[in-house]
Amino acid sequence: DKILTVEHILSEFRLNKEELKEIMERMQREMKRGLRLETHEEASVKMLPTYVCSTPEGSEVGDFLALDLGGTNFRVMLVKVGEDEEGSWKVETKNQMYSIPEDAMTGTAEMVMHVRFLGKTPHQAQEASSGLYLLFSCAARGHRQGGILLNWTKGFKASGAEGNNVVGLLRDAIKRRGDIEMDVVAMVNDTVATMISCYYEDRSCEVGIIVGTGCNACYMEEMRTVELVEGDEGRMCVNTEWGAFGGNGELEDFRLEYDRVVDEISINPGQQLYEKLISGKYMGELVRLVLVKLVNEDLLFNGEASEQLKTRGSFETRYVSQVESDSGDRKQIYNILSSLGVLPSELDCDIVRLVCESVSTRSAHFCSAGLAGVINLMRERRSQEVLKITVGVDGSVYKLHPCFRDRFHKMVWELTPYCEITFIQSEEGSGRGAALISAVACKMAACLL
Ligand code: BG6
Ligand code: GLC
Repeated sequence: DKILTVEHILSEFRLNKEELKEIMERMQREMKRGLRLETHEEASVKMLPTYVCSTPEGSEVGDFLALDLGGTNFRVMLVKVGEDEEGSWKVETKNQMYSIPEDAMTGTAEMVMHVRFLGKTPHQAQEASSGLYLLFSCAARGHRQGGILLNWTKGFKASGAEGNNVVGLLRDAIKRRGDIEMDVVAMVNDTVATMISCYYEDRSCEVGIIVGTGCNACYMEEMRTVELVEGDEGRMCVNTEWGAFGGNGELEDFRLEYDRVVDEISINPGQQLYEKLISGKYMGELVRLVLVKLVNEDLLFNGEASEQLKTRGSFETRYVSQVESDSGDRKQIYNILSSLGVLPSELDCDIVRLVCESVSTRSAHFCSAGLAGVINLMRERRSQEVLKITVGVDGSVYKLHPCFRDRFHKMVWELTPYCEITFIQSEEGSGRGAALISAVACKMAACLL
């Protein structure tokens, strides 16, 4: 009957442990290729050195302004870094959050940085004395001359910024404004900032991961294996940019028809394929495409979809969370579906829930395979019997979806025997992590710029 046919269609979303191990191993292969000079260019996982070498020690006190451009929000933080009587770090933050407007995502780079950011924050800008910190959630190569933006992902497509020196652009914008005196001293990826902000609470935190609008991870890698940077001693944080995994065809046998549509209509077709299987930017649309397919097969809503449901983007990712939070009386599901112009039966509601569960569970499991790949590699490098490690996490999917976190943790643990993994959530966003890195970076001259 109906539900069996639906279950059969949804079974494509299930990944068994063997498949997940296969994905994990392919990820590790690409990571290793990304680290090696010889294969770096062609590797899909870029493994960018961040120059964050040792986690914060010693101190540099002062006020820092962090501009944190995440997926959902743009956050301006004034971060005061101080020391208490025992000489430990003390961090205070003042926060202001804006949601990222659509036009800032498509306007020119200059507008993004100048008008949207600084324009709204003259007060904070003047208050902060030591520097201005730009914390970008996009792939960036950090080096002394400034970060070069590799490409915008997740819907940011600001003309003029791609391939440009973002820090340079921002410096120019500040100069032209003429009313703020500060310098951009650091540009760090949000995963790195998340790791550092969690490290502040737990000294075993050597991995940072974001599962939000985008998806990415960083971890502390042995310097000797980071061939793009000279030196063999100690560890350096590597921004994997694993969202791009799949760019060399490594995911072709796992991508479904829905994934191909999502990719084709995205602003960056063919890119960030792993991210498109996981992150919040695409999850709702994947669900919608499955629903439309079920309608077309006459398995849902009496074979009729509303205009809204036929419209791209109408099934928002937050609905996936809401559907799966339904207590069992189907009220919540019913309300969402009627707001989309359909009048669902009880069975329809149950089917929609199954679809959401399938898509979000697959997302969690894909993500687990990647993280297990990172952690098993760390264990291999360190030749430890049992690797004890903490992972700092941030992002709206991880934080807001009712079951993502549990499914994700469980599968990571299953795929990493001989590892003891603790997860902690980054609390106040990653801006303070960026300020901590910057504070330390100033001192060590192990600079991000
Ligand atoms: C925020 C961090 O909390 O989470 C940002 O401060 C990060 O640095 C963001 O980019 C990621 O989550 P989302 O869901 O907004 O993409
Ligand atoms: C995208 C960006 C990456 C960022 C991630 C999480 O994948 O390319 O730099 O860390 O989103 O925000």
